[in-house]
Amino acid sequence: MPTPLSRKVTIGDLRAARKSGDKVAMLTCYDFSTARLMQAAGVPALLVGDSAANVILGHPTTLPVSLPFMIEITAAVRRGAPLALVVADMPFGSYQGSVARGTRNVFRMVKQSACDCVKLEAAESQLPLVRELADAGVAVIAHLGLRPQSVGVVGGYRYQGRTAAEARQIVELSQGMEAAGAAALLLEAVPAEVGQAVVQAVGVPVIGCGAGPHCHGSVIVAHDAIGLSAGPSKPRFVPDLGDLAAPAIACFADYADAVRTGRYPAPEHQYAMADGERQKLLAALERLQV
Ligand code: KIV
Repeated sequence: MPTPLSRKVTIGDLRAARKSGDKVAMLTCYDFSTARLMQAAGVPALLVGDSAANVILGHPTTLPVSLPFMIEITAAVRRGAPLALVVADMPFGSYQGSVARGTRNVFRMVKQSACDCVKLEAAESQLPLVRELADAGVAVIAHLGLRPQSVGVVGGYRYQGRTAAEARQIVELSQGMEAAGAAALLLEAVPAEVGQAVVQAVGVPVIGCGAGPHCHGSVIVAHDAIGLSAGPSKPRFVPDLGDLAAPAIACFADYADAVRTGRYPAPEHQYAMADGERQKLLAALERLQV
């Protein structure tokens, strides 16, 4: 039986997990109804990822999703799972350009969505922004390794840190992010050795997304794991948690068939009219010659 969340999960719980060795489960979530289910399932941390661009809006990359859309769906997830740690992804273009603009947009996200933390994809150029946000009291999760918003320069969704030199850059950037005040790191698609190196190099919690077993928790795109993603292939690190697509298709097909054949709506689906009112309506229709 699932154990629903019974108290508010905070960034302090991620820090505690780093100390205790307990692992933190995080799932992507993009709407109120699913957030309710995840809170009922006892999932402590929900990431409102910009992967919403792919799985909710059907774009081939995460780049087109807008800040107002991310704020709206993060607020919905917050309402559905008030006890979970809700992490809001800052979309491409909303935090680059200048520290002032990035700060303004992060404040907008925090105020309007009531998220607990924000996540941004980490490059060296973001260090001043992370510092500014940390000084302002915002819990920032810095996303390293594979950074889907940089698909243009990386040239695809290949795993990162393949060479010792690349791995070293990731470790150094992790340390830079921690020094700038990042509250936690998210490390995507790197060899397990790189995951371990980052965990050892920093003192903040590290959530892995295909980064091996040494991280303090794991996040996956929920749709990939329950058979709801459109693409034929999913990343190798995504576990198979079941197939929600087949039962959903069966339900939709049954409805379509019921409407087509007149099985639906049946008498139990109809509203009733009081006898007296029915007589009055019939008389009125007769007068109108309907
Ligand atoms: O947007 C997202 O879903 C993410 C995860 C893949 C970590 O950033």
